Amino acid sequence: MNLQKVSFGKLSDGREVQLYTLTNKNGMTVKITNYGAIVTSIVTPDKTGKMGDVVLGFDSLKPYTGEHPYFGAVVGRYGNRIAKGKFTLDGKTYTLATNNGENHLHGGIMGFGKVLWDAQEAGTADEPGVKLTYVSKDGEEGYPGTLTSTVTYTLTNDNELKIAYTAQTDKATPLNLTNHSYFNLAAGQAQDALNHVVTLNADRYTVIDKGFIPTGELRPVKGTPMDFTQPHPIGERIAQVEGGYDHNYVLNKPSEKEMSLAATVYEPGSGRYMEVFTTQPGVQFYSGNFLDGKLTGKNGAVYKKHYGFCLETQHFPDSPNQSKFPSSILKPGETYNEATTYKFSVKQQQ
Ligand code: BGC
Repeated sequence: MNLQKVSFGKLSDGREVQLYTLTNKNGMTVKITNYGAIVTSIVTPDKTGKMGDVVLGFDSLKPYTGEHPYFGAVVGRYGNRIAKGKFTLDGKTYTLATNNGENHLHGGIMGFGKVLWDAQEAGTADEPGVKLTYVSKDGEEGYPGTLTSTVTYTLTNDNELKIAYTAQTDKATPLNLTNHSYFNLAAGQAQDALNHVVTLNADRYTVIDKGFIPTGELRPVKGTPMDFTQPHPIGERIAQVEGGYDHNYVLNKPSEKEMSLAATVYEPGSGRYMEVFTTQPGVQFYSGNFLDGKLTGKNGAVYKKHYGFCLETQHFPDSPNQSKFPSSILKPGETYNEATTYKFSVKQQQ
């Protein structure tokens, strides 16, 4: 059986939450819960064939319902920040929940990571999947329109976790769905992810102000510690970047919306290698700067600063207020379609 479903517990209102395990022919497994559409575990082999879990998270449901920095969650309606929680659409100004100083972050108070999604089995007998659906009400967190979103996770026999997003709305709304998994490819064998060697297929990034809001400038990375067009360990130049990496990179794309390589990550100790492909125009490279050791995760792991990193494929932060950025507005009659693939393999040496 390549797809298994067990109970992950109950919410305080009594609703039952499921945990799905997807297994492929290589024995790789991915666990997904319909609470927050969260990826709770990704178990892949290292260069000796030893299996290990490469994402941060918790062993049980309860901590996911409390405060945590979006471990594995689908973020929506809008991944990253909207300045002052305000935007104007078709002449009307909307006010969103503010949950990050004066700004709106990752969809607001609950967002899409703290709600229960409907789950359906998907994929094939050979390459299992789970399709999750969430209907966000008109006015939820301040956003216009009833929005129906689906997220389909599929595990392939090429050790790829494919994530496909669709959505439809009855009023124009900003939309920017992403997955907020934190990776550490050493799978518990290292206390931080600073040795991971990263490349980002991006010549520019969006410059931000003190509140992490884009100024509108797309700045070349060349000759700066922001440049990952060639492989660099995360820790090599991180001290030169105030606060660490927490920036949206503007992906070099062959054509708009085309699925293309965004990032690669190599962990020398385990030999694990991850490639990230996406249809999206940007990726938030976040080096886990706000992890502070207060959260105890799976198997008692203490998630200290830089323990994990995120590669959140996305539209650029604050796009609803930036007319020069690619539009993040979904209109009635349109279907939102985005996809991201995380592909896992090993290299014997690099
Ligand atoms: C943001 C960070 C934030 C983190 C956790 C990232 O996507 O860019 O600024 O702290 O998510 O909330």
